[in-house]
Amino acid sequence: MSDPEHDRSLSRRSLLGLAGAGAAGLALGGGAGVAATTAALAGSTPDPGTRYAFYGAHQAGIVTPAQDRLHFAAFDMSVAATRTELISLLADWTAAAARMTQGLEVGDGSVDGDLLAPPDDTGEARGLPPSGLTITFGFGPTLFTDASGADRFGLASRTPPLLAPLPRFAGDALVPASSGGDLCIQACSDDPQVAVHAIRNLSRIAFGRAALRWSQLGFGRTSSTSTSQATARNLFGFKDGTANIKVEQGSAVDADVWVPASDGPAWLAGGSYLVARKIRMVIENWDRTRLGEQQRVIGRDKGEGAPLSGGTEFTEPDFQAKAADGTAKIDEAAHVRLAHPDFNKGVRLLRRGYNFADGNDQLGRLDAGLFFISFQRSPEQFIAIQRSLARDAMNEYISHVGSAIFAVPPGARAGQTIGESLFA
Ligand code: HEM
Repeated sequence: MSDPEHDRSLSRRSLLGLAGAGAAGLALGGGAGVAATTAALAGSTPDPGTRYAFYGAHQAGIVTPAQDRLHFAAFDMSVAATRTELISLLADWTAAAARMTQGLEVGDGSVDGDLLAPPDDTGEARGLPPSGLTITFGFGPTLFTDASGADRFGLASRTPPLLAPLPRFAGDALVPASSGGDLCIQACSDDPQVAVHAIRNLSRIAFGRAALRWSQLGFGRTSSTSTSQATARNLFGFKDGTANIKVEQGSAVDADVWVPASDGPAWLAGGSYLVARKIRMVIENWDRTRLGEQQRVIGRDKGEGAPLSGGTEFTEPDFQAKAADGTAKIDEAAHVRLAHPDFNKGVRLLRRGYNFADGNDQLGRLDAGLFFISFQRSPEQFIAIQRSLARDAMNEYISHVGSAIFAVPPGARAGQTIGESLFA
């Protein structure tokens, strides 16, 4: 990884060789091959050489066109960790993330360091291109005041007033082991090995200062965040992300995603709030459900993704439209009705979730679903929609098992540390 240009061409050659040997039938073009999964099927194969700037006004990984793979991790600070160690951890994470997102190894790399010391980088991304890696950091409520009410890091007075554990919602079946966290890192890439490498190395760097609390792998982005992307599908088989906020809708991004200085606190200006919900799907019941019922539950048709009131994928739903028998064409309990801004005081979210499949349970049912992530200017946006979804027909087929919220600080300029303004 010391010479990314060289490494990129190398790995492209080897990937194309691999593809030729074993992946016949996949739409490979323009040097692709790493992520010939959702993206290829959706007709927008990403270039593995894609490299997103780490430094900037906002953190990358929010309005960045959603990559194909996710490794998300929540960390807790160690019991004995000090404020100085928290600050040094963020500085070390920033330096490592800035390198990895550019396709470089951490520190002296995996093979060039001192033979008498463990390598700075674990090495499994050596030779792989950046694959659009973004690394996004967030601060959970317990970083500011821990569960026992202690102000461990002298940050309590800097807590964003809106940063609090999410309220309990109807039907929540939350597992503490998949919820909460002092800190989070979202690593997204078009290559799963690149995303896992990022979380692994950041965990390793944290050793002694913070430890993994829970983590989640995701695949097949369930939301497009750019009009340049085709809409991918979730594990219910429906297009997901059609009505999402897209980066090209600059005014919506400014109004609904970034925290403006006027909202406060000052250190969070240009940041956002991240909500993560691990939502298990009762896949077996869904798969025995009639197509007509599946479409009623979502409020869109399964093939095109068009609203049941008619038109094509991007036609605005008409919630007044009635069928011949006088019933609403888009059911009163349909997901898209209850989640739509018209029924939520105009509120919108930037969704950026992923599918997950984590093996199976003891009854032989797939442990699979949607790892929902949304970014919003205020947690109230998510809370309003999730409350509205209490009447969602989809609730028969899903169960929320994990929940977390984080304040996402603004981006850093080169030479700065992520979250530096919090400690200023
Ligand atoms: C497993 C759980 C879920 C599934 C399978 C699911 C699926 C879908 C699908 C297929 C659509 C229609 C296409 C689109 O516009 O993206 C949609 C729309 C939407 N969903 Fe979900 N969703 C889930 C959970 C949630 C949650 C937890 C929220 C937020 C609390 C949410 C918020 C939205 C919003 C805001 C829309 C767009 C509504 C509109 O403006 O038309 N969804 N979802």
